[in-house]
Amino acid sequence: LWPLWGLVPLGYLSGSWLGALWVCRLAGVADPRGEGSGNPGFSNVLRLYGPRLAGATLALDAAKGMPVLWFAMVLGMPPWAQGMVGLAVLLGHSFPPWHRFRGGKAVASAFGVLLVLTPWVALCCAALWVLLAWRVRTAAVASLASAGIAPLASLWLAPDYVLVILVFTLLVLVRHLLNIRRLGKGDEHAL
Ligand code: G3P
Repeated sequence: LWPLWGLVPLGYLSGSWLGALWVCRLAGVADPRGEGSGNPGFSNVLRLYGPRLAGATLALDAAKGMPVLWFAMVLGMPPWAQGMVGLAVLLGHSFPPWHRFRGGKAVASAFGVLLVLTPWVALCCAALWVLLAWRVRTAAVASLASAGIAPLASLWLAPDYVLVILVFTLLVLVRHLLNIRRLGKGDEHAL
């Protein structure tokens, strides 16, 4: 399992580049950390700047962890080890060293990680996210529900990854604590 020592830091570094910041910088618009919900993620970019920049943010954040995960799979690492590499990507996104460890909520990056590890689970989560975002118009509700459904879907679709996905779900939940508090008070940002 020696490659794990290389792939975990590599995963963390890949995750730590925030798509939202690059997209907004390149598009010449204001840093999303100072606007809307203040989150450097695709939902806030969607809210602030529309679907084109949000789509680019989602694509970058989902793609950034893929090469290192493919590598972990090609090397034949067991699911728990692949999961540690995936977790490193999510931790890089949520706690990037370049931004005083203040990053995003790991939804798009988790989607990218799941697309490689368990594509059917990723697609279930994405379908639920789109449905809820469309019906409820609240990104956090869509993200929390998708994070909640992921371990259940993996029980059925990818049982070897249930524990790994549970850990991802916990991280996403913890990153949404402020959203949960706002939802409780009824003043969560609409999409
Ligand atoms: O994908 C992040 C989303 O669940 C919440 O983002 O900007 O509404 O706090 P935001």
